[in-house]
Amino acid sequence: MAGVKGSQKGVIKMEYRVLGKTGLKVSVVGFGGIPIAKVSEDEAVEVVRRAMDLGINLFHTSPTYGDSATKIGRAIRDRREECILNVKIFGVSRERTQKGLESALKMLQTDRIEIVQFRITPEQFEQGLGKEGGLNVLLKAQEEGIIEHIGITDHDPNFVAEAIKTGYFSNVVVPFNYVYNEAREKLIPLALELGVGVAAMKPLGRGALTNVAEALNYIWEHGASTAIVGMKSIREVEENASIGSKVQPLTPKQKRRLKSLAETLLRKYKIKSGALIPIDERA
Ligand SMILES: NC(=O)c1ccc[n+]([C@@H]2O[C@H](COP(=O)([O-])OP(=O)(O)OC[C@H]3O[C@@H](n4cnc5c(N)ncnc54)[C@H](OP(=O)(O)O)[C@@H]3O)[C@@H](O)[C@H]2O)c1
Repeated sequence: MAGVKGSQKGVIKMEYRVLGKTGLKVSVVGFGGIPIAKVSEDEAVEVVRRAMDLGINLFHTSPTYGDSATKIGRAIRDRREECILNVKIFGVSRERTQKGLESALKMLQTDRIEIVQFRITPEQFEQGLGKEGGLNVLLKAQEEGIIEHIGITDHDPNFVAEAIKTGYFSNVVVPFNYVYNEAREKLIPLALELGVGVAAMKPLGRGALTNVAEALNYIWEHGASTAIVGMKSIREVEENASIGSKVQPLTPKQKRRLKSLAETLLRKYKIKSGALIPIDERA
């Protein structure tokens, strides 16, 4: 299994969950590739490799995240079998998807991607699934063995819930955290019923949620297989991997605390695509 080899090199034992009908066993902590675009290539490579050492096997990136995919490509090239690559590619048109896929393969220095996340908005959905849309490019790549699984991603979990009814997608990546928890209502129950794997992005509200262990356990408790956490330092990787090695149900007291904390945070932050953005008091 991807990841097991890596985890033996670390002192902790990462937990894994099956990502719905993909059948892939993903680490409960996934690596979110946005923040590494902000650090040097050498630092990023060290961070990604430390994540692998500690058993993190799911790496989310996109050719649109600056040089994130290039850095991940360099970090994993001699340990490719330990990784499940999860790559977001825009899906509105054939041309854009083809270009995105080619860039991703090149940046990641690989000839295959385990999961491509079809990125589409509600307004683009019909076009993306049509004759000239990007989904056809992904389906062809899947037939050719370049892509193993196709998932869908957008910031609106209710739209994603409708999208999975088409049967094209085996997994989803959606914003989900204890403050922005819309996905709990409709999407997650439906996904679990259909065998569609759920990965949570923005699990820390883009860094505003600092009670990390509780925030991640909240996600795992509500049916997500993995929380894709943005990380750019060894310290963050070690802390998050350690939390992922002891998944714990929240106590009733913790649940009450998170609910009240969420209410307090909503007075200081506004929600944008699942991220918590400070409300500018001068505005
Ligand atoms: N549509 C899509 O498919 C889509 C869209 C957006 C994002 N994503 C993916 O989802 C990932 C996660 O989202 P995100 O990075 O925006 O937000 P996030 O995971 O909620 O928050 C990331 C931030 O949390 C902080 N952090 C991480 N570990 C920490 C720890 N142990 N202690 C304290 N702070 C910690 C870091 O802040 P500092 O950097 O300040 O240290 C980091 O930048 C992205 O990286 C990306 O891969 C996917």
